[in-house]
Amino acid sequence: MQLRLTLRACFGAVAALLAVSTGESAAADRANGQRIAERWCSECHVVATGQQQGSDRVPTFAEIGGSKRFDDASLATFLSAPHHSRMPNLSLTRSEIADLVAYIKSRSR
Ligand code: HEC
Repeated sequence: MQLRLTLRACFGAVAALLAVSTGESAAADRANGQRIAERWCSECHVVATGQQQGSDRVPTFAEIGGSKRFDDASLATFLSAPHHSRMPNLSLTRSEIADLVAYIKSRSR
């Protein structure tokens, strides 16, 4: 009886831990978005405040984040398939896109 109660408590703790950790990984991770941006986007875009220069005539992430043309959903759609654009398709995963959207939106002025 004692053992059974202890086991049940253990299972409960493990289940709670699993719920917390999967919940965190499902949510957009802004810091990871910044890492991806600095690695994959900064060649052309100014992605962070300290960055001096990107390519000519490429919008900065602060401009994109503040743009009325993009909400979270349309930004994610654009990033999953940037058609009719000078912007290359970088084949990002859904979670990379979610992290980037969180980061870009956080840069809006
Ligand atoms: C090889 C250069 C290059 C790289 C790398 C690049 N971009 Fe771009 N991006 C562009 C150009 C050029 C445009 C402008 C497109 C146009 O005017 O048609 C653009 C436009 C955009 C836009 C749309 C802005 C608007 O107002 O229409 C978004 C959003 C964007 N880029 C996000 C990203 C993200 C996120 C990354 C990294 C994962 C990235 N870009 C990497 C060149 C690049």
